[in-house]
Amino acid sequence: MGEIKETVKSIAEAARQEFRDVGAADALEALRVRYLGRKGVIRELMQQLGSLEAAERPQAGRLINALKEEIVALHESARAALDRKDSVARVQQEVDVTLPGRPMRMGKPHPLTQTTDEIVDIFARMGFSAVYGPEIETVHNNFEALNMPLDHPSRDAFDTFFIKGRDDLVLRSHTSPVQVRAMRAARPPLRIVVPGRTYRPDTVDATHSFMFSQVEGLVVDRDISMADLKFCLNEFALAYFGEGVRTRFRPHYFPFTEPSAEMDVSCIFCDGGGCRVCGSGWIEVLGCGMVHPNVFRAVDIDCEEYTGFAFGMGVERLCMLKHQIHDMRLFFENDVRFLSQF
Ligand code: PHE
Repeated sequence: MGEIKETVKSIAEAARQEFRDVGAADALEALRVRYLGRKGVIRELMQQLGSLEAAERPQAGRLINALKEEIVALHESARAALDRKDSVARVQQEVDVTLPGRPMRMGKPHPLTQTTDEIVDIFARMGFSAVYGPEIETVHNNFEALNMPLDHPSRDAFDTFFIKGRDDLVLRSHTSPVQVRAMRAARPPLRIVVPGRTYRPDTVDATHSFMFSQVEGLVVDRDISMADLKFCLNEFALAYFGEGVRTRFRPHYFPFTEPSAEMDVSCIFCDGGGCRVCGSGWIEVLGCGMVHPNVFRAVDIDCEEYTGFAFGMGVERLCMLKHQIHDMRLFFENDVRFLSQF
């Protein structure tokens, strides 16, 4: 018994050393065969068990089994170590680690998204929250509830995309229908902006597209007046175009506001003197007005108790003015040489 104990001990010591020092896959395989193979060291020890006294066999068997397990484990970890060494060597061979890395191209928001965010931020500072509506809208919300009955000229079939097979749905031609949705969803006071895409069957040129973006605004409360409208939009113009810009309001017509106006800003290129861009010194930037009583009636808000103002602006136009972009088609061509400038 003592003899076999000694043998197992010295085999284990030798194996530890050898598996630790092994440097290549074929040498490791040779070790495995020598220790664990069919004519290997372990097998040989097992065979010697037969010549032991019956009483000693179990204990000796356990010793040999423990030795076998240890050698299997030694083999496993030696192989793992060799694999690691291998892949490091392969990478060093195949990859020039001294080459500079490939720069990762960072994406960023589209210029129209940036402008929309900027506009929404400015109004957020005045207490407006952003709400959204669907681009496929009911004829009722897009027209009727906004005081545009069937015979209104802006309802001309050529001015609206209809949905095939449905005469009650359109691609919204402005963001104003979200006014209707918002006033149905919540009672006043309301102070919201609505960014979103809108659609009109315009032919595409430098300043027109069948798809464009707007930001709508709506304030409804007791005692809201045209003075509030002018103050709010004047603040917006200063924040967006910069200190020193002047605004003017020209009477205009929209079915859903009364009175209605268009707001111009003093030309940011010639400071109002008159130039190639503005002609007159003024640039039109948005439509606005006091919410028409018929719009309040359509959403069951008492127009004796509440008044409000609304406005709508084109995002492409505001973005083009600020960045001196001369062709709207650039926004939709997705040329990174253009987009990466913003
Ligand atoms: N909806 C109008 C347009 O698309 C803009 C507008 C909005 C005007 C709200 C007045 C009030 O031209």
